[in-house]
Amino acid sequence: MLEHDNKLDMLIKEYASVQKPLSVDFRKMVPGLKADRYTHFIHPYPAKLLVHIPYFFLANTLLSKPGDTVLDPFCGSGTVLLEGKLLKREVIGADINPIARLISKVKILPLSEKKLRNKFDSILKEIPNKSSLAPPDVINLDYWFFPHVTKQLLCIFESIKKLDDPEIRDFFLVCFSCCARKVSLADPRLTVPVRLREGQYPKGHWLRERTDAHLRKLRRINVIKAFENIVEQNIQRMSLLEKVNKDYSQPIICNDAKALMTGDSFFEKKKNTLIPENSVQLVITSPPYSGAQKYIRSTSLNIGWLGFCAASELRTYKKATIGREEYHKDEYEKYVDTGILAADRILKKLRKTNPLRSHITSNYLIEMQEALRETARVLKPKGYLLLVTANNQICGHKFRTPIYLRTIAEKLGFSLKLCLIDDIKSRGLMTKRNKTSSIITREWVMLFEKA
Ligand SMILES: C[S@@+](CC[C@H](N)C(=O)[O-])C[C@H]1O[C@@H](n2cnc3c(N)ncnc32)[C@H](O)[C@@H]1O
Repeated sequence: MLEHDNKLDMLIKEYASVQKPLSVDFRKMVPGLKADRYTHFIHPYPAKLLVHIPYFFLANTLLSKPGDTVLDPFCGSGTVLLEGKLLKREVIGADINPIARLISKVKILPLSEKKLRNKFDSILKEIPNKSSLAPPDVINLDYWFFPHVTKQLLCIFESIKKLDDPEIRDFFLVCFSCCARKVSLADPRLTVPVRLREGQYPKGHWLRERTDAHLRKLRRINVIKAFENIVEQNIQRMSLLEKVNKDYSQPIICNDAKALMTGDSFFEKKKNTLIPENSVQLVITSPPYSGAQKYIRSTSLNIGWLGFCAASELRTYKKATIGREEYHKDEYEKYVDTGILAADRILKKLRKTNPLRSHITSNYLIEMQEALRETARVLKPKGYLLLVTANNQICGHKFRTPIYLRTIAEKLGFSLKLCLIDDIKSRGLMTKRNKTSSIITREWVMLFEKA
């Protein structure tokens, strides 16, 4: 028996008798659990999952046991993967965003503090003092970075590239990616890059002085010092992980949830092999929302600096992202049924006034069906799927994402065993993203069993 066996068992029984969502507070159910434990804060990422949720569903023996495989097909920055590793599960992640894959990989792989400190000394020693390095392929580089900042970033990057151990190099690339965003001219309060300008707020506005001070700081920033601070904090995080996690095997991080393949080569799919069917015991995931977070745009400066793809190829990643908002007019000339009657009714009505928004949402549901079908393929019979999602508003219409995802799951042969609702207190999800979507404040946690 583990810490949460009884509590989970009671909730499942209560749900079986009332058949209505139960209200819970995960922070109270797992008191004292720190969101920043171990390497969780190694790099920021949009819409991160509340750590308490995967912890609660992993710290029990009802859904999975140590040694079982746990998958997060939309792993983002690897919250589920790290909690899984800490509780001795084998983990597999997938994310279309190369920055998410890098963070996840680094976050869960323990590295020796001593080795990191040695290598950091050599990075600092090897930083060249050149101004002739080729600039990275970042869209509008001069718009996002002061020239002296670009020059220093280039020198640091050049030195990191020389490291021959790929795991150590990846660790420093995560630190570098954090640093690049921090010393950019993008507003640090927002996830999507929006450039700060002096005097952009009227006199007397509470952000005026703060913004101007931030810009003044960037004009004379020592980027190497900023990088050193980030590295120091991340080495301390890694040293905590190293003490509790001795599993040094390379994690499996796939890219597309619609076709789970080992090997993270996104542009050369032929090199990859499918994750075997019936191999996973438990899936825990918080999938993207329709038109909600722009994951690739949010991390476009990082993707460019790390050279994951040319600026012109960013579109390829965006096109594979579920919930994306950019479509060409030809793509939404006709309405394509999602097969979910309640959703089709709303979306056909919406099509008359906003065909693009209607298409964004119907295509979101169609692609989520593909992803959940793939999840079902790799799950063992009687394995579990935990979905964390929420209702949102699409152009004034209530859009019941959890209900539609439940319909999809049931069509695929899953049965709902538990449904919980928690209020989201994290600011990441509470930001209103555009005028057609809404603030998400209540999270639905649905536990399904595969037939
Ligand atoms: C809500 S976030 C997950 C956040 C994550 N739980 C964490 O704590 O960081 C959803 C993720 O789905 C990813 N995504 C979108 N489309 C995808 C696809 N086709 N395959 C895999 N991941 C995808 C996005 O890049 C994003 O990282």
